[in-house]
Amino acid sequence: MSLVTSAELLYNAEAGGYAVGAFNCNNMEIVQAIIGAAEAEQSPVIIQASQGAIKYAGLGYIAALVREAAENSPVPVALHLDHGTDFDQVMKCLRGGFTSVMIDGSHYPLEENIAVTRRVVEVAHAVGVSVEGEIGRLQGIEDQISVSERDVFFTDPEEARTFVQETEIDALAPSIGTAHGRYRGRPNLDFDRLKEIRDLTGISLVLHGSSGVPGEDIRRAIALGVRKVNIDTNIREAFVAEIRRRLAADPEEIDPRKVLGPARDRATEVIREKIRLFGSSGKA
Ligand code: G3H
Ligand code: 13P
Ligand code: ZN
Repeated sequence: MSLVTSAELLYNAEAGGYAVGAFNCNNMEIVQAIIGAAEAEQSPVIIQASQGAIKYAGLGYIAALVREAAENSPVPVALHLDHGTDFDQVMKCLRGGFTSVMIDGSHYPLEENIAVTRRVVEVAHAVGVSVEGEIGRLQGIEDQISVSERDVFFTDPEEARTFVQETEIDALAPSIGTAHGRYRGRPNLDFDRLKEIRDLTGISLVLHGSSGVPGEDIRRAIALGVRKVNIDTNIREAFVAEIRRRLAADPEEIDPRKVLGPARDRATEVIREKIRLFGSSGKA
């Protein structure tokens, strides 16, 4: 089927009390792994591209790969810009066929974040594209946040309410203690804050940096209103580990298909496990 918006997928996830997986892609094999996993699980899915992915593969290639995957699939697929940096880049994605965009103004003061996010919403909504905004600062994996520092970095629930009301975004990424990449120890998520943000905004929430979050914490976050869960690192780990294994087993191998094919299969398995964890199996 044709690409759908993430607002449509999140609307259904709200009704069903589950979350939709948003998986980062960087190349054809990973797009195929994501769509293969979604089909095997009969699950809706969001395929997303970061700045790094667009720089590596090119916006046109990413859009064409994901459109091809969606159009030949019975499961609903949204194509999403992950951590969009500025208005112009969002416009390029709208022209390129993305059905969902994130504008990440979290590094700006609140008023500026509201202004840039609102501007994106006005244009994106006019052409039927969903918008995710972010407020609060996600930690780097190296940052150790003390309890007293939490109020500085983590999302303030009252500010979140203002942000959502003034921007009219479709989904909100709050900062509650997750970080991108590999964690040193077990992350300590602020579930009370997550609940307060949800209660005050009523909006679908997005969990970034979810690869290192234990399954039970993911389930708890979904029970509190997380409807989109972002996964990148776990896919990279699985894909590259399998490449390493294959090359170690046969250092003479020169056929990329013999290396990348098994890597794709391994990534598919990992994505299927995540989809089951998020509760979206059978919801396509
Ligand atoms: O948001 C973080 C994602 O893991 C993307 O990272 O910019 O290296 O593709 P990347
Ligand atoms: P991880 O790489 O930690 O899974 O985070 C992905 C993410 O949040 C993409 O926006
Ligand atoms: Zn992220």
